[in-house]
Amino acid sequence: MESPIYQPREDSFLLERNVENLAFGKVLDMGTGTGILAIAAAKNQKVKSVMAADINKEAILYVLDVCVNEGMPVTVIQSNLFENIDEKFDTIIFNPPYLPNDGPKDYALDGGEKGHELTEKFLMDAKTHLNENGQILLLFSSLTNKDIVDAILRRENYKFEQVDSMKMDFEELYIYVIN
Ligand SMILES: C[S@@+](CC[C@H](N)C(=O)[O-])C[C@H]1O[C@@H](n2cnc3c(N)ncnc32)[C@H](O)[C@@H]1O
Repeated sequence: MESPIYQPREDSFLLERNVENLAFGKVLDMGTGTGILAIAAAKNQKVKSVMAADINKEAILYVLDVCVNEGMPVTVIQSNLFENIDEKFDTIIFNPPYLPNDGPKDYALDGGEKGHELTEKFLMDAKTHLNENGQILLLFSSLTNKDIVDAILRRENYKFEQVDSMKMDFEELYIYVIN
């Protein structure tokens, strides 16, 4: 199934302002979509370099075009999570798809059968891609289930802190700094 490029909305803007405040060093924007978070990182003085990754080829071509046109120093790579990425980073950003769905896959929205599976796989793989003192900036939703995400983080021996949140009509969004 071909997936549309995710158009930035409240979740993107919430994570964007945390990227502006908290990102540093060598940055990976996982699931970059239109590149909104990669571009926010590239504008942050504390950031040295930015790589933007997405499984969706259309998103990658779009971000490449925007970054070339705007002269943004962002490296762009098509990858299913870390499959094509060997490097380590100081900051890894992820606004993952988190809706439960066991039907045909829309990469922009579907997080797995229960909604948390892609986030879980990301968290299991991300630790080998973090530099010492590196951090993950993760967004997730009450629809992903906070208790499940917390349990995954504890099981994987991460430390984590909620640094932001936003209440919406049918869900609450959370931003965690994880290391
Ligand atoms: C909720 S959108 C976020 C897009 C953008 N970061 C933003 O905040 O607007 C999730 C993004 O993750 C990408 N994605 C989904 N599964 C992925 C995977 N296995 N590996 C890499 N990217 C993935 C989707 O294509 C989509 O662009």
